[in-house]
Amino acid sequence: MLVVNVVGARPNFMKISPLMRAMKRRESFESVLVHTGQHYDDNMSKNLFRDLELPEPDLHLGVGSGSHAWQTAEVMVRFEKVLADLTPDLVLVVGDANSTLACSITATKLGVSIAHVEAGLRSFDRNIPEELNRVVTDRLSDYLFTTCQEANDNLGREGIGKEKIFLVGNVMIDSLLAKLEQAKQSDILNRLGMESAKYIVMTLHRPSNVDNQKTLRNILHGLNVIQQKLPVIFPAHPRTLKQITEFGLSGQIAEMTHLHLVEPLGYLDFLSLMSQSKLVLTDSGGIQEETTVLGIPCLTLRENTERPVTVTEGTNTLVGSDPNRIIDEAMKVLNGYGKVGQVPKLWDGRASERIVTILEKEVLG
Ligand code: UD1
Repeated sequence: MLVVNVVGARPNFMKISPLMRAMKRRESFESVLVHTGQHYDDNMSKNLFRDLELPEPDLHLGVGSGSHAWQTAEVMVRFEKVLADLTPDLVLVVGDANSTLACSITATKLGVSIAHVEAGLRSFDRNIPEELNRVVTDRLSDYLFTTCQEANDNLGREGIGKEKIFLVGNVMIDSLLAKLEQAKQSDILNRLGMESAKYIVMTLHRPSNVDNQKTLRNILHGLNVIQQKLPVIFPAHPRTLKQITEFGLSGQIAEMTHLHLVEPLGYLDFLSLMSQSKLVLTDSGGIQEETTVLGIPCLTLRENTERPVTVTEGTNTLVGSDPNRIIDEAMKVLNGYGKVGQVPKLWDGRASERIVTILEKEVLG
C-alpha cells in the first residue's frame, strides 16, 4: 500500500512521526512524506524533525505563508502534481491546518482515498479557521480516526457513517510518551536558569488572541500580574512576535522582568519545560492534551475548545482572555488548587499501531 503522508505546520510533525514509525515496521506499507512548506523557519520545522526523528521529507512543496485562500490554493496546485506522479493508494492527513484541508480536497478530486487522523473534534465556532478545515476534511475522508467518544458523536451527528469511524486514541500522545524519557535529558531548565515546579510556561498564537489588539492587551495585562508571582517562560510564535511589534507592545513586554520571551523551542526542550512546570497558559490545541497526560494544570486562553475531554477528564480549564479570570484561575493553581484530572481512555501511546492495523485490514482487505 503506497501511502502519502502530509505535514505542513508544526503540530502535524508530532502526529505523523509515530505513524510513519508504525508503517515502517510493517511490510505492507510503503510510505512517502510530503512537506507542504506551510511552516519553514528552522525552529518551526527542521528542529522538530530532528527531535522527532522524522525522516527528511521525500518531497517539499515549499509553499510558505500567505492568506488562507492563497496558501490553500497553492498547496492544492502543487500537491495535485505529486498525486498525479505517485498515484498512491491513500493520502494520510492529520489535524486541522490549511495543509490538511488543501491536500484532502486535492486527493478527493483525484479519487484517492483519505485517512484523517484526529477526526471529529469540534469547537462549534466557525470563526476559527481550523474548525472549517476540520469539518471539510472529515466530510471528504474515507477513514476517520478519533481520539475520544465525543469526536465519534460529533461525526455521527454530521451524518458520517459509523463504518468509517475508528476510535483509536491520540497519536500526539504516542509522540509524547515515546519521547518523555529522552526529554528528561534536556538542559533547558539550566539554560533558562529555572528550577523544577518554580515557573510557568505560556504559548500564544491563535489569530483570535494575537491579531486583535484589545484581546492581546488583556492577556498581557493578566500575564503582567502572574509573572510577578512566578517567572513565566514564553516561547513566542512568529505571528505573535509580529503582532506585539505591530501593536507597539514591545515596551510593555520588556517591563515584565520575570517574563522570559524566547524563540520557539524544539520538541524535546519544550516537553521537558512543560513537564516540570507549575502551570501552563496556552491557546494551543495539542498542549491542552499534553498537559492532561502530564498532569500539569492548564489554563486555556480561549472561550471554547474542540478538545472538551481535556476539561471534563483532564487538567484543563477554559479562561478566555479576561485578565481577572486569568489571574484568579492562575492564583488557584499557584496556591495548590490546580486540577488533578485523569488520562482519557486509549491515550496510551499505541494509537498509531491501532491505526496501521485498521488501515491494513480496511485498505488491503
Ligand atoms: C498554523 C495552523 C494552526 C496551528 C499553528 C501552529 C492553519 C490555519 N493554522 O497557524 O492550526 O495551530 O500553525 O503553529 O493552518 N511564520 C513564520 N515562519 C514560519 C511559519 C509562519 O514566520 O515558519 C509566520 C508568517 O508570518 C505567517 C504566520 O507566521 O504569516 C502564520 O503562519 P500560518 O502557517 O499562516 O499560521 P499559524 O498561525 O502558524
